Amino acid sequence: MHIEEASDLHLEEVLCVERTAFGNEEEAELVRDLLRDPTALPCLSLLAFEGERTVGHVLFTSARLEQTPDAVSITLLAPLAVVPEFQNQGVGGKLIERGIQMLTESGVDLVFVLGHPGYYPRYGFEPAGRLGLAAPYPIPDEHADAWMVQALQPGVIGTARGMVICADALKKPEYWRE
Ligand SMILES: CC(C)(COP(=O)(O)OP(=O)(O)OC[C@H]1O[C@@H](n2cnc3c(N)ncnc32)[C@H](O)[C@@H]1OP(=O)(O)O)[C@@H](O)C(=O)NCCC(=O)NCCS
Repeated sequence: MHIEEASDLHLEEVLCVERTAFGNEEEAELVRDLLRDPTALPCLSLLAFEGERTVGHVLFTSARLEQTPDAVSITLLAPLAVVPEFQNQGVGGKLIERGIQMLTESGVDLVFVLGHPGYYPRYGFEPAGRLGLAAPYPIPDEHADAWMVQALQPGVIGTARGMVICADALKKPEYWRE
């Protein structure tokens, strides 16, 4: 398996992975919208290949903190998708790890995700709400741990606080019901 940064030329492969992994159009449409959304820039789109076949995709899009808009560099992981035949073989984990490595090198401070609290902590994420970093839409208390953050640079956690403002294409309450 190898991972490559996706370009505009890979759009159909990216959308196909999203459709196949989730079994519907919703995430494919979200990804299409995010890739066209200037407020999502800079974004990082990574594709996993097994031979010639595309088997996984992850998208990171730009976000900001409401109270300190320019002081910290923030990105949001959504969505992560692996086609069914290749799930549970480490593809999702490798996509997360490669993305984190590239974002760290490019100076991003914080990565957020709304996802399964049994999955993302193994890649360094921890619950964000209790650190004073709120989601763009309220997350019900029973799912609070699904809103997670990972600091990529030292000294950011504890100093950066407030609500995360996501890209316009993600500003729909239905995307925030974990
Ligand atoms: C969730 C998903 C991205 C994980 O990718 P993957 O390549 O299958 O996962 P990995 O091989 O890296 O990790 C496997 C582990 O994750 C767990 N896992 C898989 N899907 C999970 C999910 N939806 N929630 C929680 N844990 C999950 C597996 O049980 C396995 O755990 P184990 O190591 O303790 O056995 C992939 O299964 C997928 O695309 N699912 C459909 C789309 C989806 O639900 N995406 C959610 C993220 S937005």
